Amino acid sequence: MADLIPKERYISREFLDLEMERLWPRVWQIACREEEIPNAGDYVEYDIGDQSILVVRGADGSIGAYYNACLHRGTKLGSGVGSFAEGRIKCSYHGWCYDLSGCVTSVPDREEFPGLPLDLRLGALRVDTWGGFVFVNMDLDAEPLLDFLDPIPKLLSAYRLDEMRFRAYRTLVLPANWKAVLDAFNEGYHVQGAHPQILPWTDDVSIAYEQYETHARYGRLENARRELRGSPRLGDAAGVDEGEILAGLVAGLGGAFLKDEKAVVDELRAADLPPGAMLSAFQERRMRLLAERGFDTSAFTPDRMTSAEDVYWFPNMVGPIYPGSALLFRMRPNGLDPDSCLKDVWVLEWRPPGDERPMPERRFYPDWTAKEWDPVSTQDYENLVKVQAGMHSRGFEGLRLNERQEGNIAHMHRVLDRYLSRS
Ligand code: FES
Ligand SMILES: [Fe+2]
Repeated sequence: MADLIPKERYISREFLDLEMERLWPRVWQIACREEEIPNAGDYVEYDIGDQSILVVRGADGSIGAYYNACLHRGTKLGSGVGSFAEGRIKCSYHGWCYDLSGCVTSVPDREEFPGLPLDLRLGALRVDTWGGFVFVNMDLDAEPLLDFLDPIPKLLSAYRLDEMRFRAYRTLVLPANWKAVLDAFNEGYHVQGAHPQILPWTDDVSIAYEQYETHARYGRLENARRELRGSPRLGDAAGVDEGEILAGLVAGLGGAFLKDEKAVVDELRAADLPPGAMLSAFQERRMRLLAERGFDTSAFTPDRMTSAEDVYWFPNMVGPIYPGSALLFRMRPNGLDPDSCLKDVWVLEWRPPGDERPMPERRFYPDWTAKEWDPVSTQDYENLVKVQAGMHSRGFEGLRLNERQEGNIAHMHRVLDRYLSRS
C-alpha cells in the first residue's frame, strides 16, 4: 500500500501558504487566452491566491504581464477585463499614469517627489504563449515555457488549439480545495460511484493513465475507441442499443460537440445500420463536417473523432480535447482560503482563421448552488462539498489512492513536492 497523502495538503492554511510561496511564484500558469486581449490596451486581470496580475496587450501587439498594484500607494490598476483607453493605465486614486509596458509616464506634482526615479515601472512577469494560451511566470529565471510544457505541444499539435476560440466562459466558486476539484477531473475511478447513470454508454474501465515528467494524460485505450460499448462493469452488453450509446456519448460531452453532430446521430439512428456500423459511420460524418469547415483532419484517425485527449497541465488545468473543440477546467485557490477554489470552465471551438467573433459573456457564479448544472457536474460538485468537509474529520488522515486509476493524482503531488522542496 502506497503512503497516505496527508490531508493537510488539502485543508491547512500553512500548506496553502507554502504553495503561495513556492509553487505559484515559480510555475508557468495559464493566465488567459490571446483572443481575450485582441487590441492594444486590452487587459485581463488574472488572480492567483492573493496575487493579482494584469495581462496587457501592448502598443506593439506584444503581451506583457505586471503586478496589479500602483507604485504610489498600492491601488489595483485594473479589475476584471477591459481596455486601457488611449494606451494609458491611470490609477484611480491620485492619477499616476503608466504606459502599456508598465512605465510610469506621469505623476501629478512630480516635483514634490524629489527622489522618484525617472525610469520607474511596474514589476513585470515572464510571459509566453502556446496554443493560444497566455502563460505567465513570476520567476524571471524559470525554464523556457516549451521546456516546461513538454510533451503537451507534441501531443496536441494536430488539435490547433491556437486557432480555437471561446464558445463559453464560466467561473464558479466551489467550497473545496483547488486540488480536490482538480482531482475530480483527473481520474475515471469515480464514474462508477458518482455517475452510475452514464455507465451504459461509458467504458470507464478501458482507460490508460500516463504520467510525464511534469504533466499527465489519460485516455481511452485503442480497442475501446473502436466500439460503442458501455462499462464492462455492467456485464454482458447484449441487448444494448448502439444508437442509444452513441446519443448518450455525444450528449454527455458537456457541450463540446456541435449541434450538427446531434443531428447526425439522429439521422444514423433512423438509418437502420447493421450492428457495429454506427460508430464508424458517425466518425466519418464528423470528420467530414470538420473538413467542410476547413479543419485539417489528416493527422487524425477516425476513432479520434469520438475520443478525447484528456490532458492534465500541471499545476491546475485539465480537460478533454477533441478535434474541433475542447472543454478545459482551470482550478485556482480562492484568495487564501484552503477550503475554497475558483473553477473556470472554458469551452473552446475551432474556427477557421479570420472567423473572429466577440468573446462570449463571462459568467461568474459566486454560489454554485444558484444555478442548475448538468447532472454529471452536479454530482461532482455535491461530492466535492462532502470531500472537503470530510477531510476535516478527526477520523480521516489522508488519501489512499488507487495506484493505477488515481496515478495522475499521486503524480501531481510528486511534482508539487518538487516545487515545494526548493527553498
Ligand atoms: S495609489 Fe495610485 S496614484 Fe496613488
Ligand atoms: Fe465526475
